[in-house]
Amino acid sequence: MARPVPDWVLTEWFTDVDLGVLKSGKEAEIRVVERSRRDGSGRHLLAQKRYRPRRVAYKGQLEELGFTRAATFRNDIGYREGRAPANSRDRRAVEKMSRHGKQVVAESWLGQEHDVLRSLWEVGAPVPFPVSFDDHGGLFLEYLGDDQGAAPRLAQARLSPPELRRAWDQLVEAMFLMVDAGWVHADLSAYNLLWWADRLWVIDVPQAVDLVGSTQGFELLHRDVVNVCGWFARHGLEVDAEVVFAELLGRIG
Ligand SMILES: Nc1ncnc2c1ncn2[C@@H]1O[C@H](COP(=O)(O)OP(=O)(O)OP(=O)(O)O)[C@@H](O)[C@H]1O
Ligand SMILES: [Mg+2]
Repeated sequence: MARPVPDWVLTEWFTDVDLGVLKSGKEAEIRVVERSRRDGSGRHLLAQKRYRPRRVAYKGQLEELGFTRAATFRNDIGYREGRAPANSRDRRAVEKMSRHGKQVVAESWLGQEHDVLRSLWEVGAPVPFPVSFDDHGGLFLEYLGDDQGAAPRLAQARLSPPELRRAWDQLVEAMFLMVDAGWVHADLSAYNLLWWADRLWVIDVPQAVDLVGSTQGFELLHRDVVNVCGWFARHGLEVDAEVVFAELLGRIG
């Protein structure tokens, strides 16, 4: 599949100029960066995401690791399942809260977001393409927007009834693709969906879980479906969460 960013963005010398913070949330900061080709023949906007690690294994873990406690701190073991540091040196480092340990934790969230985006992008799901890691614990993503501004979140997009219908159809298709790829978003809402170029885009995936490999996969999938169905129902669409959930389960071969 053709990447949505020009090749030079990944392969050639460039200069990045920070155009400022797009959104600074409790958990993440998104900046817009203008990347220019060194020979002056091209420019391309990118989104840069940096975030505090979240969704930890036990209450107090973040503080122990020296991170500031986020207002929306969640103590949900399901999110961490299967995300323990892979080797024993890393595991010991995390246990001892060494500098390396802190880094391992931070990087696992970053790596998870990158890997999930990449795997979803590869099956054709509407997600921003993960361009690369940056040197300071962040991730460059395909920017959804233009010079005038970033894509609105679904919750703020003020879609017309026909657009809303299209957004719904696209969301169902996106959920099918995510399930086919074996992922549950696990934080799906009108705030993690963007509307850009007449398309619905799914963002913010660091907490995604393995649908069948995680004990809470189906529960989280159901919660996601109920969440987004509720939003569309409140905006006038006749949608049935249980029907959609059953259709999704029917995709699992
Ligand atoms: N690739 C992108 N292109 C354009 N805008 C984006 C992109 N990624 C994120 N945003 C904007 O930044 C916001 C925050 O991003 P994201 O949802 O990934 O982080 P978060 O961890 O949920 O942060 P927050 O706590 O602020 O919601 C999004 O709601 C969206 O408005
Ligand atoms: Mg978000």
